[in-house]
Amino acid sequence: MKELIWLNGKTIPLSEAMVSVEDRGFQFADGVYEVVRIYNGRPFTLTEHLDRLERSCGGIALDLPMGKTPLAAEITKLIDQTGVKNGMIYLQLTRGHAPRNHVYSNPKPTLLFYARTLPPMSRPADVKGLKLISVPDERWSRCWIKSIALLPNILAKNTAVAAGADEAGFVHEGIVTECATSNLFIVSRNILLTHPVGPKVLPGITRALLLNLAAELSVPAIERPVSEAEVLAADEVFITSTTRELAWVTQWNSRPIANSKCGPITTRLHTAYQSRVSEQAQGQMAKGK
Ligand code: PDD
Repeated sequence: MKELIWLNGKTIPLSEAMVSVEDRGFQFADGVYEVVRIYNGRPFTLTEHLDRLERSCGGIALDLPMGKTPLAAEITKLIDQTGVKNGMIYLQLTRGHAPRNHVYSNPKPTLLFYARTLPPMSRPADVKGLKLISVPDERWSRCWIKSIALLPNILAKNTAVAAGADEAGFVHEGIVTECATSNLFIVSRNILLTHPVGPKVLPGITRALLLNLAAELSVPAIERPVSEAEVLAADEVFITSTTRELAWVTQWNSRPIANSKCGPITTRLHTAYQSRVSEQAQGQMAKGK
């Protein structure tokens, strides 16, 4: 399969792509990104991702270098050219290259995206639960911006992996905000709970879809801060992200949680998520996209 990249309007082999060492993304992490899931050769919830990209751009005073509609068309074209059926798009927009200076003038942004295949996902109930460990949430207060400055997330994730866990849960004053690479939900007495988005929580696209699906399934959901004690006492705990969909959690700091099994609400929500994936694929096929 060809690995192609769309870089500032040109589609070239990924291995040949070059960006200046004075690109502000490279020197200052001055940029934003998106990860979009590809199912059946089509981007999933692309509109929502591009809307979030636009909001992230607004958060760092950067204009999208092209409209969302032509950008969506270019992304879809690249997926067709690469032939990726199930995978992801990584998209990154930086403030572009200019002589190194903290003060930005008006360099031309660097926009790029490429597609990559991902292994098929199993249903949550068919796989082992995830082990999470807590790490202090020392990130900035603009986590709603999907910034490429991910060092705190990277350090947290690697701390988790080094401890034999799968994911790190950020804790701030006893409250679990989100995870290093995902949002966190708990189910307590049949109510779905997750921290509100904002200063400490990325508005996850999977999270938003899940909340919609919960409403459709008449599962009550409340967006409010969730304490570490509530996570430990929860009936079900799961994380969500574009690449992981829904993954259930069985351990928090080596303590078993959620009866150590994938719970019924997690399973129902994942089934509804899968139906949404199929519906979108059918809708796009019908429109000939
Ligand atoms: N990460 N919170 C954080 C800190 C994340 O990095 C992510 C996703 C999410 C979930 O957002 P979404 O449902 O829109 O994927 C929440 C991506 C997948 C990544 O960095 O690779």
